Amino acid sequence: MTNPNVQALIWTGNSLDVLDQRQLPEITRYDRYADASGVAEAIKSMRVRGAPAIGIAAAYGVVLSVQQHFSESENWHQAVLTDIETLAQSRPTAVNLFWALDKMKAVLAQMPENIVDAVTECAIKIHADDLAANQKMGDFGATLLANAKGVMTHCNTGSLATGGYGTALGVIRSAVMQNPNLKIYAGETRPWLQGARLTVWELAQDGIPATLIADSAAAWLMKSRAIDWIIVGADRIAANGDTANKIGTYSLATLAKQHGVKFMVVAPTSTIDWSLENGDNIEIECREPRELLPACYDVPDSLVSAWNPVFDVTPSALISAIVTENGIVLNPSEQSNGIRSLQS
Ligand code: MRU
Repeated sequence: MTNPNVQALIWTGNSLDVLDQRQLPEITRYDRYADASGVAEAIKSMRVRGAPAIGIAAAYGVVLSVQQHFSESENWHQAVLTDIETLAQSRPTAVNLFWALDKMKAVLAQMPENIVDAVTECAIKIHADDLAANQKMGDFGATLLANAKGVMTHCNTGSLATGGYGTALGVIRSAVMQNPNLKIYAGETRPWLQGARLTVWELAQDGIPATLIADSAAAWLMKSRAIDWIIVGADRIAANGDTANKIGTYSLATLAKQHGVKFMVVAPTSTIDWSLENGDNIEIECREPRELLPACYDVPDSLVSAWNPVFDVTPSALISAIVTENGIVLNPSEQSNGIRSLQS
């Protein structure tokens, strides 16, 4: 059910091969990392992205750290904790990164007899569990699309962004299997163009047709009545359902309300930050102005600058459904306990 040509991460046993997503769709190239700081750099530099994929990569980074330090120094535990801190600093918004690192730390804290095997098993399980969760979410989410004629998605939430299959894109894949006439629209997702460079490419690898639109065409698409649902992933969901996702998600949710289009968030429970009551305190990554600015303005004393937040928070009240591997919560803002029924 997953396409072997579309794998963000390949674990070799003593290194991690990372597909350089910055080169897609023109070039398919894997870079090999043999230590944790290399993996942290792969996350920071956007070779690997998408909340679940970042968490999985970080888990393998911890395995590499243990492999490197365990046999070589008495202070190996401290060296591994320092590497974990480096991995944690790589990107701030996707909670899956911290969730995966906490899981790896818990294994380290147990001090099992064969520490290398134990951390390796944990990382492989994080990876496999994410794939299994995606397939479940695909089935759950597709039930909501039984009568849909068209959907739109934002950013990339497919195999490249996850352990395989995808979150929002997994729901779309499952829905297309049941209804091959479902029309799929993908927004370009400026400034990194995850929609244009990754999402439509991934769908094409599976023979699924998709239509790309400029982000600014979304309102007009909704007005045309071509879509019934917008379906997105998430980088961090608070306990009341407020959802941080790629910049532009909040605009889409607001437009969806205006046009009577339903709005679905699809994410594994590893993306839910139960410590946050609402989305107010989610740290939003702000990236370099030069990612937005034409090169002529990227000079000292330029009068033109750029503000480049790369995520935003969609209030729960704009969300029609949150889909996880543990089930679906409809209209999360109307549930007195938020989305706590999903907590396992
Ligand atoms: O900056 P990126 O490319 O890491 O952002 C990715 C997204 O925002 C995805 O939509 C999100 O992680 C959901 S992924 C399954």
